Amino acid sequence: MDQMSRCRVKIWLVLCAFFVSWYFLIHNAKWYTLSSPTTTFRNQETTVEIIDFNTTHSTSDDENKNHGSLDGKIDWLHDVSQLRALEHELEPVLKKFKPKPMNESDERRVNETMIEKLRIRRSKSRFKTKRSCSGRYIYVHNLPSRFNDDILDDCEAFNKWQNMCPYIGNNGLGPNLGNPQKVFSRYGWYLTNQFMLEVIFRSRMTQYECITKNSSEASAIYVPYYAGLDVSRYIFDGTTTSRDALSLDLAQWLREQPEWNTTYGKNHFLVTGRITWDFRRGSDNEEDWGNKLMLLPEFKNMTALTIEKSPWNSNEFAIPYPTYFHPRTDDDIIDWMNKMTRRRRRNLFCFAGAPRPKMEDSIRDKVINQCFKSGRKCRLLQCSDNNSKCYQPLDVMQLFQSSVFCLQPPGDSYTRRSTFDSILAGCIPVFFTPGSAYIQYLWHLPKEFSKYSVLINEEDVKHKNVSIERILSRIPEKKVSQMRNEVIGLIPKIIYADPKAKLEKFRDAFDLSVDGILQRIGNLTSNNTSSYDFDESYSWKYYLFGSVKKHAWDHYFSNSVNEKVK
Ligand SMILES: *[C@@H]1O[C@H](CO)[C@@H](O)[C@H](O)[C@H]1NC(C)=O
Ligand SMILES: *[C@@H]1O[C@H](CO)[C@@H](O)[C@H](O)[C@H]1NC(C)=O
Ligand SMILES: *[C@@H]1O[C@H](CO)[C@@H](O)[C@H](O)[C@H]1NC(C)=O
Ligand SMILES: *[C@@H]1O[C@H](CO)[C@@H](O)[C@H](O)[C@H]1NC(C)=O
Ligand SMILES: *[C@@H]1O[C@H](CO)[C@@H](O)[C@H](O)[C@H]1NC(C)=O
Ligand SMILES: *[C@@H]1O[C@H](CO)[C@@H](O)[C@H](O)[C@H]1NC(C)=O
Ligand SMILES: *[C@@H]1O[C@H](CO)[C@@H](O)[C@H](O)[C@H]1NC(C)=O
Ligand SMILES: *[C@@H]1O[C@H](CO)[C@@H](O)[C@H](O)[C@H]1NC(C)=O
Ligand SMILES: *[C@@H]1O[C@H](CO)[C@@H](O)[C@H](O)[C@H]1NC(C)=O
Ligand SMILES: *[C@@H]1O[C@H](CO)[C@@H](O)[C@H](O)[C@H]1NC(C)=O
Ligand SMILES: *[C@@H]1O[C@H](CO)[C@@H](O)[C@H](O)[C@H]1NC(C)=O
Repeated sequence: MDQMSRCRVKIWLVLCAFFVSWYFLIHNAKWYTLSSPTTTFRNQETTVEIIDFNTTHSTSDDENKNHGSLDGKIDWLHDVSQLRALEHELEPVLKKFKPKPMNESDERRVNETMIEKLRIRRSKSRFKTKRSCSGRYIYVHNLPSRFNDDILDDCEAFNKWQNMCPYIGNNGLGPNLGNPQKVFSRYGWYLTNQFMLEVIFRSRMTQYECITKNSSEASAIYVPYYAGLDVSRYIFDGTTTSRDALSLDLAQWLREQPEWNTTYGKNHFLVTGRITWDFRRGSDNEEDWGNKLMLLPEFKNMTALTIEKSPWNSNEFAIPYPTYFHPRTDDDIIDWMNKMTRRRRRNLFCFAGAPRPKMEDSIRDKVINQCFKSGRKCRLLQCSDNNSKCYQPLDVMQLFQSSVFCLQPPGDSYTRRSTFDSILAGCIPVFFTPGSAYIQYLWHLPKEFSKYSVLINEEDVKHKNVSIERILSRIPEKKVSQMRNEVIGLIPKIIYADPKAKLEKFRDAFDLSVDGILQRIGNLTSNNTSSYDFDESYSWKYYLFGSVKKHAWDHYFSNSVNEKVK
């Protein structure tokens, strides 16, 4: 009896010592890479309630009415990290219940070539040749403040359910996130709202190296109107008149400027942080959605950069949604790319999003069902309609970083911010229609889409019950690894650097957008009409393939949606 209990104590001591050393070992080796799918998922419900932005912020709202005032911003993050820390401390105990990763060799794979290449880049990052400004000058219209700054004062009206004011701070980047759980990296992570592109873009433009005060010298004219934030104030309850008022006002203002008549607006562009469908109200019925900005003759002559463009209109170009990462230096980016290259990814695929029960055509239910049925191979971050679970960067980034593939089924519209979060996390995006990215982000994503993503026909999921899991697990490991490298290589191109900083070597989403718009406006104003002589409703094809010939994707872009929009 005595001996027995002594023995037991011994075993416990050994176990304890083993536990402690093991724990420290893991801790040093970046234990966050070991987040367990099952535990995190089970805890999702509770953690998410605690970090709900709305609830936690309502207490400090009164002191923090001013946008940009971000004191106390991290309080809620503290709660989260404490909870998370607890979860991680429990992990060693839970470990024995953990499933084996689906394929060790695949997940552990570190592409040394890639890392080596990045290291070299890092040391060379000082040398960037200065480009001449000739042909790159941009003139920024000095709009009355009612078209931009004053709109921000109305931030409480941007969203009925959520106080958007904190998101405006830091030049539109939002509150600093720090690096809880080391899920992010040391610098450059912000709680960026998906609709803040207008603010971020304008801040970046103030740093653009070829701004001119002389409009006749400019190749393009930027109209810094916060179109999306303007309409968001009225989009749910406002009358059509209130929704259209500022757009009409701006149209008139522009027409009266001396810059207008040189090309009748063809050299003008604006940036909208909401999808194009919010600006294409075809009738004056009060029930119809959005305003009619894009249908006004002035704006038809201009070019719009937007997070989702219309496939059937020729004067729009899509540019990436903002992500949470806004680095200050090239090294911030390289470190992040290296980290994503080394990540172990234990889920074959994942999905973060909500079902769309009211949308008949939506494949979201099917996707969610399939994910559910795939068990451990798929991890699901369910978002319900009326809370902001899926806007929690920690949950989303953690999920995407530990998955090989990230499903991106269309939601209310073709595109999703999530696509860019997944690229940022080195997770290969899986699309269900070319409308979600391939025809959209022509200046930022490669034309050869199969190099960095997977396309599964949405009809096949809807009607033929194809198995997403089967398709994804049949992709050879070597190909998967190549695709992931490609995705990680895209990271610099899809992020917006901190407007206060200057990247030396990398060209970010802003830089590529400016290149694109200069080329586009160059084409448009050089009376090279041949290149724009096509049926506008085939814009998606023309811009992608350079022709309007019959194409295998026609069925994605024919039909009722087109009717509705035109
Ligand atoms: C969000 O906060 C507001 C008050 O700040 C509250 O009225 C509303 O019910 C909250 N919404 C949710 C979904 O918690
Ligand atoms: C796991 O890796 C091994 C060795 O590389 C490979 O033969 C096998 O097909 C992989 N299995 C899966 C499910 O990817
Ligand atoms: C690593 O990445 C490079 C290019 O980034 C690629 O050429 C190479 O095949 C990859 N190696 C492996 C083992 O996947
Ligand atoms: C503006 O630029 C035009 C064309 O480059 C030039 O002719 C004109 O003198 C400039 N005006 C001023 C005030 O610099
Ligand atoms: C631009 O041209 C139109 C006619 O083509 C004219 O009515 C208008 O006054 C001009 N505007 C300016 C600012 O010169
Ligand atoms: C748009 O451009 C055309 C020329 O391409 C011009 O005739 C028309 O007046 C312009 N619209 C406006 C509102 O200036
Ligand atoms: C929103 O959440 C509340 C409780 O959290 C629930 O009662 C309500 O039905 C939900 N509304 C919608 C539209 O899902
Ligand atoms: C779809 O396929 C799965 C297996 O791949 C099967 O379990 C399920 O019953 C099928 N559903 C329908 C509606 O055919
Ligand atoms: C501009 O025109 C050239 C030649 O027609 C074409 O290759 C290029 O894609 C066009 N650029 C844009 C942004 O429209
Ligand atoms: C005009 O169009 C042709 C053919 O589309 C193209 O090769 C040429 O580069 C264009 N010129 C300019 C100035 O954009
Ligand atoms: C091209 O446009 C310029 C003015 O922008 C004009 O002077 C020139 O004649 C035009 N060339 C052709 C071939 O139409």
